[in-house]
Amino acid sequence: MKKVSSGKVREVYEADEKSLVIVTTDRISAYDVILPTMIDGKGIALNTISNFWFERTNQIIPNHILSTDLADMPSELRSDPAAYKGRTVLVKKLKMLPYELIVRGYMFGSMWDAYQKGEPFCGQTLTGEYEQAQKLAEPIFTPSSKNNVGHDENISVERMINEIGKEETDRLTRVCLELYRSCAAYAAERGIIIADTKFELGYDENGQLCLADEVLTPDSSRFWDAETYRTGTSPKSYDKQFVRDWLTENGFAGVSPAPEIPAEIAEKTAELYRTCCEKLTGTGYPA
Ligand SMILES: Nc1ncnc2c1ncn2[C@@H]1O[C@H](COP(=O)(O)OP(=O)(O)OP(=O)(O)O)[C@@H](O)[C@H]1O
Ligand SMILES: [Mg+2]
Repeated sequence: MKKVSSGKVREVYEADEKSLVIVTTDRISAYDVILPTMIDGKGIALNTISNFWFERTNQIIPNHILSTDLADMPSELRSDPAAYKGRTVLVKKLKMLPYELIVRGYMFGSMWDAYQKGEPFCGQTLTGEYEQAQKLAEPIFTPSSKNNVGHDENISVERMINEIGKEETDRLTRVCLELYRSCAAYAAERGIIIADTKFELGYDENGQLCLADEVLTPDSSRFWDAETYRTGTSPKSYDKQFVRDWLTENGFAGVSPAPEIPAEIAEKTAELYRTCCEKLTGTGYPA
């Protein structure tokens, strides 16, 4: 199979001219650097969570999944279930929109920075009184453009309208807000706050808009533990807290190449991904 891309966490291959294979590995990144240490089962957790949401949201929007079953995949994958089972999907190759479609439900991160400075964020004026990490009166749509070089760039909804038209922009806004609202409400019942998330959408060969990439995983979203969540503080990320804390305490935050992290930290992190997967999907995965 031809490799199409190798991201921080996922490997993408071309299965045939109409379909791709996406393999979610056990790699973990922190402070934008990939660590040499693997987190046992992380890829299975992410893939299980993503597939769960694809199924739950297909009434809102169709998605790119063709199969989650290794039996339907190319022979190279079928012959090595230990490496690929539970972490691999066969998907429709889409014409992807060049945006990260971000929805934010909480005042945090770069939006909190802008709010404190009294600056607009993605062209939107942030009104109201907020503490850090407070829930917004309404979730907002804050797209960014996917740049081939350099970092993604926050853009205004007006710019998106100029680029793809008002009707399509309105449709994307509506779909993404509905996806966020519906899934965040579900996650909240399960003890997980989805503070914000990023969707990627594209068009299939019939021009049908489809949800793609990964959906509402801890890698594409900010997940907080509802039990320990407080406003006025910076809630710890559900999944990477031990890794980030260890890197910071040992002076390795953002340092590349990152060092191996201790086995105990890796195991505690693997446990967090397992718990997160179980809480959200109600099903575990083989250890
Ligand atoms: N159905 C699809 N059709 C075409 N492209 C897709 C589809 N689903 C996802 N993609 C694209 O595949 C790529 C996934 O690989 P990506 O490099 O993002 O992996 P990653 O592990 O998420 O890395 P990173 O951490 O750098 O984002 C993205 O560019 C995404 O837009
Ligand atoms: Mg990605």
